Amino acid sequence: MISKSATEVLTEIASEIRECKKCRLWKTRKNPVPGEGNPEAKIVFIGEAPGYHEDVQGRPFVGAAGQLLTKMIESVLEIPRPQVYITNVVKCRPPNNREPTEEEIKSCSSYLVRQIEAIRPDIMVCLGRHSAKLILSRAGINFRSILSVRQKVFEVEFGNKKTKVLVTIHPAAALYKPPWRRFLEDDFRLLKSILIKEGEKSRGTTPTLDQFV
Ligand code: URA
Ligand code: SF4
Repeated sequence: MISKSATEVLTEIASEIRECKKCRLWKTRKNPVPGEGNPEAKIVFIGEAPGYHEDVQGRPFVGAAGQLLTKMIESVLEIPRPQVYITNVVKCRPPNNREPTEEEIKSCSSYLVRQIEAIRPDIMVCLGRHSAKLILSRAGINFRSILSVRQKVFEVEFGNKKTKVLVTIHPAAALYKPPWRRFLEDDFRLLKSILIKEGEKSRGTTPTLDQFV
């Protein structure tokens, strides 16, 4: 049997999400937000749940937090946003932007796991507590404060592939707590240094970010 391409699998998952009624969020969403980006991405960013603008447009991270995330990707990492993959733990907007419940996360998380297994990224970046909690729990790691798991590199296995995992604060947190913006910037600098190191290892030549774009 010829195995399906990442693009085909991601398209299938997105159409399942469009029909999904596994939790109550389908009733209040305008548009589900499966995720977007490069199916062959080396880096996957995982947020929490769509907000107002994401729900209207059906695209992840397009509001204020999204603009900050895009800026970090394009100015600190120097990678065009379409070359990475961006998604969320929960694919439909929780009403009034409340946090997703445990039950909603549990209902939705298999879509995220399947997306990661299709893309097989080298690095995943968890944006905020819910994303970090879900991904790190697969490696048996629990934490109390998100600040205690940032600036570290974890390894988590998805579909027989070990993937590096970095945790940072949610970009929305950097917007409503301005002193936290430094955390986001420092974490993106760490990410960039990892990308450069990985580039050196696999090429044995001058570091470039080409392989990540
Ligand atoms: N916040 C998130 O966690 N995800 C989005 O897509 C937008 C804002
Ligand atoms: Fe389905 Fe996830 Fe939307 Fe709930 S949030 S309806 S589980 S796609």
